[in-house]
Amino acid sequence: MKCKILDGKATSAAIRSEIKDKVETIVKNGGRRPSLVAILVGNNPASRTYVANKEKACAEAGFASEVKRLSENITEEELLSLICSINKDTNIDGLIVQLPLPKHIDEHKVIAAINPIKDVDGFHPVSAGRMMLGEDTFLPATPMGIMTLLERYEIDTKGKHCVVLGRSNIVGRPMANLLSRKGTPGDCTVTICHSRTKDIASYTKTADIIVAAIGIPLFLKEDMVKEGVVVIDVGINSVEDNTRKSGYRLVGDVDYDSVAPKCSYITPVPGGVGPMTIASLLQNTLKAYEAKAL
Ligand code: GUN
Repeated sequence: MKCKILDGKATSAAIRSEIKDKVETIVKNGGRRPSLVAILVGNNPASRTYVANKEKACAEAGFASEVKRLSENITEEELLSLICSINKDTNIDGLIVQLPLPKHIDEHKVIAAINPIKDVDGFHPVSAGRMMLGEDTFLPATPMGIMTLLERYEIDTKGKHCVVLGRSNIVGRPMANLLSRKGTPGDCTVTICHSRTKDIASYTKTADIIVAAIGIPLFLKEDMVKEGVVVIDVGINSVEDNTRKSGYRLVGDVDYDSVAPKCSYITPVPGGVGPMTIASLLQNTLKAYEAKAL
């Protein structure tokens, strides 16, 4: 099987360039720039990298952006009060709180405090509910980016069996919802597998499309997939590699080298889903800005 790469890096760059052009036009016509605030609590190294990447992408697109870096020891009350003041600030269009949060802070309470009109991560119960009902809303950035990749590469999803590995609120659950929706891409028959699923390979072997978001490095192996499968790898895992100067390398949830030869399409790690997540966040922030401008 000649495997084609789903190039998230190039697709994301194309989307970000379209957004940049729109922002330039807005500014030329005297409008204010779309703006995003990201709240980062503590020093989780992965979160710091993700937030830095989001900040850089905002700057490149011409957005105003600010990262509020807070101590690991901030109280839940202090965090809620900051969210409340950002909710009220009419110059801010989008607000994201980078997850995970420290154990002493209730993640659900924090997400619920964000004004749904600024919820560009699509994590608020109102956004999640609207998505479930098929109404227009902010979609979570990673599943949204995957839908965009499937759309731009014109991958046929109608009536296909899609296996989603992972049931997180951020990726697995919304992904299953979007793929099973009416439309293109969509119209899939979806199976969600997770840590308690018995014999995961028995599902993945019958899948036409697999979305791997299970958080286990190199989990999906060649003997677990059928010929011609489309594989979307959401995993970003850092593994030790002494042949690299840094001492580590990034791998996905898919054993790329063994699985790719059996695929019709596959996303690489890095350069697949990761950059698409960022593009979707910018699209959502522009959407929040435009909704306010109406
Ligand atoms: N943690 C992992 N992915 C995400 C994301 O897309 N948004 C936020 N806020 N936190 C995350």
